[in-house]
Parts: sequence; structure tokens; C-alpha cells
Amino acid sequence: MTAHLTPDDYLKKILTARVYDVALESALEPAHNLSRRLHNRVLFKREDQQPVFSFKLRGAYNKMAQLAPEQLQRGVICASAGNHAQGVAMSARKLGARALVVMPTTTPQLKIDAVKMLGGEVVLSGDSYSDAYGHSLQLEQELGLTFIHPFDDPDVIAGQGTIAMELLRQLQSLGSDRLDAVFVAIGGGGLISGVANCIKALRPEIKIIGVQMNDSDAMIQSVKAQQRVTLADVGLFSDGTAVKCVGRENLRIAQGLVDGFISVDTDAVCAAIKDVFLDTRSIVEPAGALAVAAIKQYVATHQTRGETYAAILSGANMNFDRLRFVAERAEVGEEREALLAVTIPEDRGSFRRFCELVGGLPGGPRNVTEFNYRISDAQLAHVFVGLTTQGRGESEEIARNFSQHGFETLDLTHDELAKEHLRHLVGGHSALAQDERLLRFTFPERPGALLKFLSLMQPTWNISLFHYRNQGADYGRTLVGMQVPSEDSATFDAFLVTLGYPWVEETHNPAYRLFLCPKRGPARGQAIVVDEPMIEWPDGPIGPDGPEHGAHDPLVPAAAGKRSA
Ligand SMILES: Cc1ncc(COP(=O)(O)O)c(C=O)c1O
Repeated sequence: MTAHLTPDDYLKKILTARVYDVALESALEPAHNLSRRLHNRVLFKREDQQPVFSFKLRGAYNKMAQLAPEQLQRGVICASAGNHAQGVAMSARKLGARALVVMPTTTPQLKIDAVKMLGGEVVLSGDSYSDAYGHSLQLEQELGLTFIHPFDDPDVIAGQGTIAMELLRQLQSLGSDRLDAVFVAIGGGGLISGVANCIKALRPEIKIIGVQMNDSDAMIQSVKAQQRVTLADVGLFSDGTAVKCVGRENLRIAQGLVDGFISVDTDAVCAAIKDVFLDTRSIVEPAGALAVAAIKQYVATHQTRGETYAAILSGANMNFDRLRFVAERAEVGEEREALLAVTIPEDRGSFRRFCELVGGLPGGPRNVTEFNYRISDAQLAHVFVGLTTQGRGESEEIARNFSQHGFETLDLTHDELAKEHLRHLVGGHSALAQDERLLRFTFPERPGALLKFLSLMQPTWNISLFHYRNQGADYGRTLVGMQVPSEDSATFDAFLVTLGYPWVEETHNPAYRLFLCPKRGPARGQAIVVDEPMIEWPDGPIGPDGPEHGAHDPLVPAAAGKRSA
């Protein structure tokens, strides 16, 4: 009966586990950057470097290597959100067995492809691991296969426990036995069960801290309730740990051996993925970064210094297209970016004053990471602004500073609606944007580039739209709408040339016409005059014709754009 296995029993199982036919002894490495920042020594156990890019093959192989030959001949089945599936598929290939894998439909394509590459047969079913699990039990019966549980099995647990055995041994080669706590991501609880048993058997003074996503915290809730709690729903960002109900044996072990639990949010995990990258130049998947996010939280809460912590980087199976979201959120998670709604009064020169204020903020000049504006009010401009910051709490200080200088500011840095949606929705048709010409500019992306671009906008013509987001690309791309009465066209065209930035005129772009262009308004030459424009351009001679496309392709920004003939 599994309920009676003690840490010493598990230790024996761990010491005799068979994992190295398929798994590597993964490296234990100091995370120099993070250690310096946190004033504590942080070590990374690099399970992301396993052949299937996660620790999961340890438990799967240990279980399968102990099956009877007839069981292997019939084949195995498992349910998995991806990583266990790869462990099972690889182990089956090594042992010459058939592997049927039931995965939730939400599984990243990368993991599905990896299982197929390893020779596994994939069945997609349900939204979460738990849904897939139900279907796999049915198939197990129908097909007479042996079920390989991803976490609730002593042999699987023992396989995962080999990580801790290596870790304790490897500490010595790093020069010190000191280890204050090990941080472990929890899904169903197999990993932490193995690690906790090994460590508590050998070094009981080392703390074991379990980590879960705040929207997928079945273990934390179950420990509190002292019974297994089934979550109605789980967040899927960290798909590796998205489990609705933990294992029976895993809960028993966690209750007895885990010293504490920490839950982390998506932004903190994105920031932790970046932390891992900064130290290792490797990208881990969200579940693989949970432990790192938790160490940062632990240090902030307990204000520790000089301690040694190990984070198990449990996996690296991340879809490449997720990186965009991760990079976006990492800055906010680290509070390296402030997102602000700034109201700029339409007094003459107020926009320029705002730019100067940004340039003179305490702590040195900031990069403008985002600048979105659409005219909607003749008196006030509401601008969505992103600025680089140097640390926690700074966004509030900047907001206060702006407000004190007459630019009423709302700090949106922690506003989910703003971060996820509103930043993309600044725009729309505006009846006030008459005579608008729309231009796409590019400029080499470097610190201060946008501020320079903004300050080149001499006041004469009104800016009715501005859209910029720093994407970390080679060239910054902005979209600018300016209200240019037809009689000013030639002057405006001349001005575009003097600006020195490549541009493309998009005034006739059909997408612009559908989504942004003023719907109805006075005919050309009967422009609505917006009192006291916010940004204006120098006066000049009256131009003869309407807007045309600039000729220069901004994707090849070798020189300033020219108007086509
Ligand atoms: C990358 C990664 N980290 C952590 C876990 C959590 O492991 P467990 O379900 O054993 O708690 C998983 C589970 O699949 C995983 O894939």
C-alpha cells in the first residue's frame, strides 16, 4: 500500500531507480545575475536540458522499466498535458513498447509533434489534463494497455526523486553544502513528492517550497482543506502544471513533507522566464520558471540575504509564438515598464512640455516603449504611454510626478484590461479628425529614438493619431495621423522630406478607411478647426493637391522617403 511508504522507503526506491538509460544527470548551476540581484545564492537544476526538455522521462522510464514483459508487449497508455507524454513515448521507444497518449486539446503543438516524433500515438481529448485522464482510463480498459500515471504512482515519484539525489551530491562540487530551500513547481505533485522524500530523508533541515500558479492551485487548496479538492477550472498559461486534482499519494506526501507553498501570477512567471534567460541564455516554459518566480517572491516577503536556494527548471517545451506574450509581460512583471494614461491639455506647447518632462524624470531619462493616441476631444488628449522603469513602485511615482506637473495621469501598470486590450484599442473613427493624412514612419530603434522623433514634430499641424509600440525590433514603426488642410499640402510634403525619416503615406489605405478615417465630415477645404491644436507644424505656402503615397519602403529604411510622382 502506497500510503505507508516513508521517506526512507522512498529513498531506497530513489537510489535503485532506473532513469539513466534515457535521462541525463542534469547540471546544477549558479545563477549569477539573479543571485546578485536577490542578494542570495540561487542555483538552477537544469531539467530543461533533458533529451525531452523536461524531467518527466525520469518517472515514466522508472515505472515502465519495471513492467512485466507481457505488459510491455501489450503497450502502455497515459494522459498528459505534454511533458509526461514525451517521457512515456521516449521510454516506450527505448523499451520497444507501443505508447498511446491522450492529450488535452489545449496542448501546445510543439508537445504534440514531439510525442509523434518519438513514435507515440496521440489522441486529443478534453480541455485539461483531468479531462484527458478520464478518456485514457476508458481506453486503458478497452485496449488492455497498462496505464502510466504522470504523478500518483510511487515508481514515478521515485524516478522524479532522482533529481534531488543528484542535487544534493552536486552541491559539493559547487563548493558549499549549504542549501536553505528547494523550490519545486507542482502540477499533480509527482515532482515535489520525489524531491521532498529524498531531501527529507537525507537533509531534513532543507525547506521544500511548493509553487503553483494562482489560477491553478489544486495542491495549495487541497492541503488547506486536508483533502483533495477538484478545481472547476484551471489557468492554462502554465500548461505543464494545469491539473484540476492532485494525486492521493502526492497530497499525503505534500501534507507531511512540504514546508510551505507559494502561488505566483502570470506576469511574475514571464519575468522569471526572462531571469532564466539572462542567466542561461535558455528559454524555459512557464511551468519551468515557476520555481524562479517563487524564489523572488520568497526573498521579497522574508527579506532574506546570504541564503542558498535551488530552483528546479523543470521544463522547456514552449511554443515559439508564446514568446511574444512572455516578452510583453516580462517587463510589467518585473515592473520595468510603466503603463500610463496621461491627459495632455490642449494648451499651446503642452505636448512638447510633456516630452521634456519625460526626458527630465528623476532617475534619468526613460525610453518611451509605447505611445498611442487618437483624437477624441477638442480640449484634452488622452495618451496611452509606456515608459521604462527601474523597479517596483516607480510607475506610481511617475504618475504622481506627471499629475503634479499638470498632466493628469492614471497608472495602468497593474490594470489587466489596459494591458490586455485597451492598449490595442486606442483609435477608431473620430469626427474630429477631419483632413487627416496618415503616415507610417520608421526610425532605427535605439534608446531615446521615439522621444527624438516626437520632439521633431514642430507645432503647426494637429496630430490626430499616434501609434507606437517598442517591439524590440530593428526599426521603430509609428503610425501618425495629422490634420492637414488641402491648402497646406505642399508645405506639409516639404516638411516630410526635411524630417529625414522614411515614410509611407497610408491615407488611401482601405483598412484605414474602414477602421480609423473620419466617417462623415465636411468636404475638403471645409475642415473642422480644432481649437488650439496639440501639435502643430510650421505655416507655409498652400499646396495644390491631396495626399499621395510616399515612395519609400520603410522596411528598407536606407534614406528618407520621397513622395511618388
Ligand atoms: C515542466 C513541468 N514542470 C512541473 C510539472 C509538475 O509536475 P507534477 O505534475 O509531477 O507536479 C510538470 C508536469 O507535467 C511539468 O511538465
